[in-house]
Amino acid sequence: MSTPELFDNAASPDDLAQRVVQLRAQLHYHGHLYYVLDAPELPDAQYDRMFRELQALEEAHPHLRTLDSPTQRVGGKPLAQFDSVRHVVPMLSIRTETDTESTGAQAFDTRIRKELELLDTAPAVEYVTELKFDGLAMSLRYENGVLVQAATRGDGEYGEDVTHNARTIGQIPLRLQDAPPVLEVRGEVYMRRDDFEALNARQRVRIAQGDKGEKTFVNPRNAAAGAVRQLDPAIAAQRPLSFFAYGVGELQGGPAWATHLDLLMALKAWGFPVATQTATALGAQGLLDFHQRIGALRDQLPFDIDGVVYKVNSLALQQRLGFVSREPRWAVAHKYPAQEQVTTVLAIDVQVGRTGKLTPVAKLAPVFVGGVTVTNATLHNEDEARRKDVRVGDSVIVRRAGDVIPEVVSVLPASLESPNRGGVFTMPRSCPVCGSAAVREEDEADYRCTGGLFCSAQRKQAISHFVQRRAVEVEGLGEKLVDQLVEAGLVRTLPDIYRLGFVALAALERMADKSANNLLEALEKSKSTTLPRFLYGLGIRHVGEATAKELARHFGDVQAIMDAPLEKLLEVNDVGPTVAQSLRAFFDQAHNREVVEQLRACGVHWPDIQAASDAPKPLAGLTFVITGTLPTLGRDAAKALIEDAGAKVAGSVSKKTSYVLAGTEAGSKLDKAQELGVPVIDEAALHKMLEVL
Ligand code: IVH
Repeated sequence: MSTPELFDNAASPDDLAQRVVQLRAQLHYHGHLYYVLDAPELPDAQYDRMFRELQALEEAHPHLRTLDSPTQRVGGKPLAQFDSVRHVVPMLSIRTETDTESTGAQAFDTRIRKELELLDTAPAVEYVTELKFDGLAMSLRYENGVLVQAATRGDGEYGEDVTHNARTIGQIPLRLQDAPPVLEVRGEVYMRRDDFEALNARQRVRIAQGDKGEKTFVNPRNAAAGAVRQLDPAIAAQRPLSFFAYGVGELQGGPAWATHLDLLMALKAWGFPVATQTATALGAQGLLDFHQRIGALRDQLPFDIDGVVYKVNSLALQQRLGFVSREPRWAVAHKYPAQEQVTTVLAIDVQVGRTGKLTPVAKLAPVFVGGVTVTNATLHNEDEARRKDVRVGDSVIVRRAGDVIPEVVSVLPASLESPNRGGVFTMPRSCPVCGSAAVREEDEADYRCTGGLFCSAQRKQAISHFVQRRAVEVEGLGEKLVDQLVEAGLVRTLPDIYRLGFVALAALERMADKSANNLLEALEKSKSTTLPRFLYGLGIRHVGEATAKELARHFGDVQAIMDAPLEKLLEVNDVGPTVAQSLRAFFDQAHNREVVEQLRACGVHWPDIQAASDAPKPLAGLTFVITGTLPTLGRDAAKALIEDAGAKVAGSVSKKTSYVLAGTEAGSKLDKAQELGVPVIDEAALHKMLEVL
């Protein structure tokens, strides 16, 4: 598209009108690419230039201005109040299947089949499966293709006229091509999570700058609802809203669709966003599959949903099914467990982490949220706890999404105003576990206990970290047992775990002879490890698994790492000043070097690694699959050995697999290898390969 020039004022009226029409068409086209398809073809500056040109032309020639002009998205005057709008076709709600288990889908299909009097032998009913967006419903009325009115749902019969705000939503088309004389599009206005976070960040800046009228929003839905019900469209325009279409209200002279899916496809063709996850499903099993698939995907979606919606696809069947009160019989919302709930703060505790970090944690009255019962929620650090102003006795909103740790979102306004709240949270200046000084370094958000391994909380977690699966892996040494060992005074430092004897272990509460023996065996097995796992297990601040691998590859042995000056450490891939300083600080402490030496003296060992670049890769180009239990190596240790030797480890056997490494109780992978003629080796053979090659 050519760069538009500002129009010459001397141009003829016809030319001007033509230019205005051309600009509008171009802005509609590029606006759709930008807002709906998220695939702009023009740089923003060029879009802005065309926009300003159109604005200037309309300003100079008001008779050229139309309702559907892109310039009309902004700049309306604030309203005194909302007008009431009557929905000719009522805005219904959907019956909610409260059974959040998958049985909810079965119940709906059974009901539909019964209503339709289908025999058991009749084929499966076809449904459209949609997301249940967590925003607010809106009806958009187009007359001859031009957006003339937008209304909230209200009580379903009367809503509020929010046309001025709907126009500010870039994803809502102002004009439709080839549209029927009257078309009402129904859908959901919502706010994306990233837009919500950015909006709240901007709000916080305003509040910090002393703007008394501003507040942060509790969740995307509240933020969206607040924006839609803004009387001043200039403010609404600053709130980033999005839209999904899911249905049609009044329709005059429109196409006769046969199915709900056809209707959605037509809306999409007119330029409305329709969620890409929308699909069709056959029978109860199809609904169940969708419910499960979206459930697994839920946390990765860029916006909140609180469930899925099932709709009978055939519009003829929908008509046969009809309505009960204000709910159609042909649709149901199937919810997921809520990710936010309200509960009470019973106390605010301070927990000590492995590296001494002190974290304030709200102790909560038990509440079922995000599919589990939550009794603790992190407040992150002192600043966060104060920003949210969480106090004992408050009613708070708790959120748990996916595997993320539960979080206090905010205090309910009623609690903020209550006269008998607890005091403002302050971080203790000494460690609640060992009493050592707690300090906050400059530019850091966290307080840390300075007690190091003197602090039993840090000791316990240092041990749990060392014995975990991704480090040296001591099977059966869980957190409870670590607590017991530390509390009984049996383990003070890491090497102590290798000094445990049968008698001491068997004397512990709830420890049977057999378990004690198993643990001793697991400890023995853990002594054969790899250098990266050992390094990672030491729990040096900022040294994760990837960094540990890089360090091992670069230096080849632990002594070289312990002795490396800062400059040498900085030569390692991905090691910057923070990591290098942390390594130096760790190994400059005599007791940490001693821990390493003692662990080795106890028999902890690993295969030599050839340092850095010139190390030959004996198994380069090969692909291994591991199955069953190996006699000495844990699965991760075997994987690391193979990968260090340059080979890949794959999850399933195919013709491309070079070897299957099998231990006892190998299952289907072994069968598959035999079927495909892939050579099968045992652990001893692997060791040989690594030696010989
Ligand atoms: S259809 C005839 N589809 O849920 C059914 N509604 O209680 C009319 N909602 O107020 C609604 N996602 O705001 C439908 N995919 C979806 C939806 C959806 C969210 C909301 C809508 C409505 C409420 C129904």
